[in-house]
Amino acid sequence: MTVLIAGCGDLGTEAGLRFAAAGHRVVGWRRSPGRLPHQIEGVEADLTGSLPTIPQDTTVVVIATAAGERTEAAYRAAYVDGTANVLDALERDGGEPVRILFVSSTAVYGDAGGGSVSEDTPAEPASPTGRMVREAEQLLLARSPAGLVLRLSGIYGPGRTRLIDQVTSGTAVRPAEPQWSNRIHRDDAAAAIVHLASLDGPVAPIYLGSDLLPVDLGEVLLFLAQELGLPEPPMGRTSTTRGGDKRCDSTLLRSTGFDFAFPTYREGYRSVLAGRSVRHG
Ligand SMILES: NC(=O)c1ccc[n+]([C@@H]2O[C@H](COP(=O)([O-])OP(=O)(O)OC[C@H]3O[C@@H](n4cnc5c(N)ncnc54)[C@H](OP(=O)(O)O)[C@@H]3O)[C@@H](O)[C@H]2O)c1
Repeated sequence: MTVLIAGCGDLGTEAGLRFAAAGHRVVGWRRSPGRLPHQIEGVEADLTGSLPTIPQDTTVVVIATAAGERTEAAYRAAYVDGTANVLDALERDGGEPVRILFVSSTAVYGDAGGGSVSEDTPAEPASPTGRMVREAEQLLLARSPAGLVLRLSGIYGPGRTRLIDQVTSGTAVRPAEPQWSNRIHRDDAAAAIVHLASLDGPVAPIYLGSDLLPVDLGEVLLFLAQELGLPEPPMGRTSTTRGGDKRCDSTLLRSTGFDFAFPTYREGYRSVLAGRSVRHG
């Protein structure tokens, strides 16, 4: 069985390594394939252009591309056009994968006023970029019965240390008003991709991938300062919540038998701070 990862960056590579470790052939498409590890067969491909031939025995396709900038046009090209092109290439080459998993984002929910969001919550993106991601989801699910959407919350992990950097540089500010934040460790996100792609039988069209503990952003910043032995970040006015004020509920993902290696930000950030990355699944 071959797994094709279209847009094989940080997350796609981690998922690809796990598929390879499970004995699958893994092909990774990106514009700079030389950056991929040897376990993944790198193929130069631009998802917005004409695409290479898809191996006949491809049973899983993971679309994990990202936009180069936060503009509507860049998001349309990366997500909507990229996804449509992959589906066109599958039709062209007669491929019939069992799963086509689109890595999406909980940004499709916009702001929920601090409420809980799950797969049943209507996705009404507040931003033009969020609308593009939602459009790509809808396009995939409308065009392919093999389509599956995994909506991830904020990814953190090795090399993805935005909050840690804010705390160490002394620029972190704890929001004066409580502000929900949601996250998933990069390794759990990769493990969830492999888990969902490998499930037997029918699956739901959409899953949320977010750890077990939505948490006030200020609490995370305080925790990081304590772990690093640094002064408490001050409270103050901050710009609007990066991910929208909401609490992501990933009960459906867990009901399929998925276990988080990093159930909360505490285990996850302790692992990042220790410079380790746990591999499972
Ligand atoms: N960051 C977050 O907190 C977050 C949260 C929720 C969801 N997500 C989603 O997670 C997904 C993957 O994120 P990531 O961190 O793995 O991103 P990433 O490391 O930037 O990987 C994306 C890869 O896509 C490739 N790519 C971009 N444009 C391409 C194109 N036109 N043709 C072919 N390949 C292209 C890039 O490689 P080349 O430059 O070599 O082409 C890049 O390595 C994205 O869909 C993102 O929306 C992220």
